[in-house]
This record gives sequence, C-alpha cells and structure tokens, in this order.
Amino acid sequence: MLPEIPLQFATRLINSGPLLLVGTQGDRGPNMAPVAWHMPGAKTPPLLHLTIGVRHQTWANIEARESFSCNLVPPALLKAVGFFGGTSGHSVEKFARAPVAWHPSSLFGMPFLDLSPGMLECALLNLDPERHLVTAEIKRAHADPALFQERWCIEKEVPIVHHLGGEFFQCGGELLRQERISDW
Ligand SMILES: Cc1cc2nc3c(=O)[nH]c(=O)nc-3n(C[C@H](O)[C@H](O)[C@H](O)COP(=O)(O)O)c2cc1C
Repeated sequence: MLPEIPLQFATRLINSGPLLLVGTQGDRGPNMAPVAWHMPGAKTPPLLHLTIGVRHQTWANIEARESFSCNLVPPALLKAVGFFGGTSGHSVEKFARAPVAWHPSSLFGMPFLDLSPGMLECALLNLDPERHLVTAEIKRAHADPALFQERWCIEKEVPIVHHLGGEFFQCGGELLRQERISDW
C-alpha cells in the first residue's frame, strides 16, 4: 500500500494539465488570470469545463461578455502568470502594468498572448456559481504549426507549462518556480 498523503495535496495528484491564462474583456478593458483547474467536456462540439472563483473579475467578465480566451503558457510567460495571478482585475488594470504583448482574438476580440503556442476562443454555455463551474464551447482554436500537428509534438520539446500547485510549475522535465507577485 502506498503511504497516505494529506488531503490538502490530493488535487495536486491530478492537476498537472496545461496551465491556462484565461483572457476576458470587461468595462475597464482586457483582463487575464491563470486557471489551472479545467478539463475537456466533449469532443463534438468541443466543450471545456473550468473552475473559476465567482469573486474573480474573470468570472464577472465571462458572465457579462459570454466569451473568453484560453492561452497556453510558455516558460517566457511565467512571470506574467505570477503577476496575473497575484493581482485582480477588480483593482488593477493588469495589461497597463505588465509589458505582455497581446492582440484581440478574431472571433470575440478576447486577449490572445503573442507568445502563447496555442489558444482557444470560447463561448459561454453555462455558469454554476455554487460550484464555481464555467462550461463553454470552443469555437475556434489556434496552434503553432511547428509544435502542434494533430497532437503536441512533444519530441520537439514543446514549451508548455503545467502547474504542480503553489509556486511549483513544470515544463518538460524541468521544475520551475514562480511566486504570485503584485508588482511587475
Ligand atoms: C498558477 C495559478 C493557477 C491558478 N488557478 C486557478 C484556477 O484554476 N481557478 C481559479 O479560480 N483561480 C485560479 N488561480 C487564481 C487566480 O488566477 C487569481 O485569483 C487571480 O488574481 C484572479 O484574477 P481576476 O480577479 O482578475 O480574475 C490561479 C493562480 C495561479 C497563480
């Protein structure tokens, strides 16, 4: 029998899917926040479930605009993860403070990060505030053709960051650390 681990770490056994930077638009402009907890929901049409705190600006923006973007994260954006996750769009205009290049997505005008190797444009289907659960349909997807050809070409050392919990991240076989920061 394997040793038991504290329940506080239980989700860390399974939360190592690719980290997302979720981009939204609000009354005060674009916003972005890291979201590690998400899963595919269906293939056709492609659906996505995400756990997003109801008090986050991201939740409010998704509720108001009914669309958002998901940006995969290369190591070069790890500092942005610390900043976007260490501040809230409720009080901070994140893109005014962080020199992170972005452009509006073609379908919904949601922020796509120039350095991201893959992005999804999503349309809201359902919000379950009790469970902090967002369900959306992926309407359009983009990927760097040098890195994604029907699947991620992991033999080419795809630069995609996964969250291991807390300040710990993984890219390939490398352990990375980034704390949340409130100043760029
Ligand atoms: C690595 C990382 C992963 C995170 N994953 C989630 C998540 O899955 N769901 C969530 O609601 N918040 C998550 N957060 C916290 C939010 O990103 C954070 O509270 C952020 O400040 C919310 O910003 P907003 O108020 O502008 O939406 C994560 C933060 C970090 C640093």
